[in-house]
Amino acid sequence: MKKKIVVLISGNGSNLQALIDATKSNTIDNAEISLVVSNRKNAYGLERAQQANIPTITLTLKSFKDAGKTREDYDKHVTQEIVKKMGQQPDLIVLAGWMHILSPVFLDQFPRKVINLHPALLNQFDGAHAIERAFEAFKNGEITKTGVMVHYVIPAVDKGEVIKVKEVEIKTEDSLEDLEKRIHGVEHVILVEAVKELLSRNK
Ligand code: GRF
Repeated sequence: MKKKIVVLISGNGSNLQALIDATKSNTIDNAEISLVVSNRKNAYGLERAQQANIPTITLTLKSFKDAGKTREDYDKHVTQEIVKKMGQQPDLIVLAGWMHILSPVFLDQFPRKVINLHPALLNQFDGAHAIERAFEAFKNGEITKTGVMVHYVIPAVDKGEVIKVKEVEIKTEDSLEDLEKRIHGVEHVILVEAVKELLSRNK
């Protein structure tokens, strides 16, 4: 029986694509992506999932807020929908560009099973726009390199035990687009490596 991965996305889904390719090509041979959850209706990652015949659900926070419900209500709903749609607990939940902070209402249901990909080193540039902020810091002479990490998710944003980390060089001649491209290239490798390692561990 293959292990079941759920991927949460909000946008382009290039990291989802890296995981789709790895599971379809048997780079990761003991797992499959069972479900993709998006919090945006027009996320391109949804198309990537559909093309790979992976079930998807879209759950927008706005519809909850409009109905006067809380973030915790939303997190509870996401939890329930994942378990309902899969009919079982997932083995791993990957946040691949998921632009919402998940509360303990969600995290406590999946202990040590939720991991996040972040385009910066630990304790540098937590939160959104990490690549842009690293690029500016480099231009201001504050840093000489940046990086990418995969870590367990805890309630604090982009904190939590690091599973895999890789430094990424910033070159003087880099444009922001150059740096973004280099970082995304590293992300696609490190995420697949981290998922492969985690799922090959005996539990
Ligand atoms: C990645 O840079 C990831 O580290 C960050 O959001 C971006 C998602 O990119 N959390 P994509 O949607 O996988 O292309």
